[in-house]
Amino acid sequence: MKTPVCDYEGSDYRTRFWENQGREYEDLTERIAINRMMPPTGDTLIEIGAGFGRLADEYRGYKRVVLMDYSSTLLAEAREHLGDDPKFIYVAADWYKMPFVDNLFDTVTQVRTIHHAADVPALFKQLNRIIRPNGNYILEFANKLNLKAILRYWLGRQDWNPFNHDPIEFVELNFDFHPTYIKEELTKANFKHGRILTTSHFRIGFLKRTIPTGFLVWLDSVASLTGPLWQLTPSVFVHSVPQKSGGSATIASVDAFFACPETGEPLTEIDGKLTNSKGQTWEKKNGIYDFKNPVS
Ligand SMILES: C[S@@+](CC[C@H](N)C(=O)[O-])C[C@H]1O[C@@H](n2cnc3c(N)ncnc32)[C@H](O)[C@@H]1O
Repeated sequence: MKTPVCDYEGSDYRTRFWENQGREYEDLTERIAINRMMPPTGDTLIEIGAGFGRLADEYRGYKRVVLMDYSSTLLAEAREHLGDDPKFIYVAADWYKMPFVDNLFDTVTQVRTIHHAADVPALFKQLNRIIRPNGNYILEFANKLNLKAILRYWLGRQDWNPFNHDPIEFVELNFDFHPTYIKEELTKANFKHGRILTTSHFRIGFLKRTIPTGFLVWLDSVASLTGPLWQLTPSVFVHSVPQKSGGSATIASVDAFFACPETGEPLTEIDGKLTNSKGQTWEKKNGIYDFKNPVS
């Protein structure tokens, strides 16, 4: 059975959530965290759930940048914003069925999306498969153990317990995670988790309205360094490295890139079409590879 997906097709996410919505502080603190964790240059990077490409400019040090998302309309917005820069590759796909060969990516980033994952172990398994040995996985997750949730729980204004390690689905297909749960699942999926940064320490309307954004972002960037000690902010970044050996560590050949989301076999592109051995074909339409719906 297909794992349910939170579908943003046709969504106004960019204008409703980001544009002129007073979230410059969150946006800037996330960029700082990514840049602290991500090697600035490399061969191939993928952002999982890249949406409209909000963070794409941070990845320009990489030779190839894959923006992958389930929503082709958000990817079309990314493409419109980034133009025809050949560095960027747009892929509409489901993160439970990633259409890439094993060990392809130097760096994987994932920001503000894992809260839509109903099956975290399946997602981590796919990610471990596509990241190179000693590559980087930079994950931001929504932390259920945040100060606001703790206070609300203690005051009896929230029925779920933020100290419990299980994910909490507060709205359908929207989960908050306990840091311990994320670390345990990363370990089970053969990742070694390392550096932790906390962000959005000052995500409080009054502070954001009264303190100049640049100063608040700077304060956050300092407070962020306490991440290894405690994680009580609504947003947490964790850096992990996949542990691989033997056959699972074989690097993809230079030409291999896409793989069939169903069978895993490598796919070769001919005239914008990719066909597997069973005759199923996926195609590139308007600059976006569509691996959600085979054309035949
Ligand atoms: C809240 S948006 C975040 C977008 C972007 N990361 C950002 O921070 O601006 C969540 C994104 O996750 C994507 N998403 C949700 N489930 C997905 C899945 N199963 N496979 C791929 N993308 C998915 C959605 O389409 C959406 O663009």
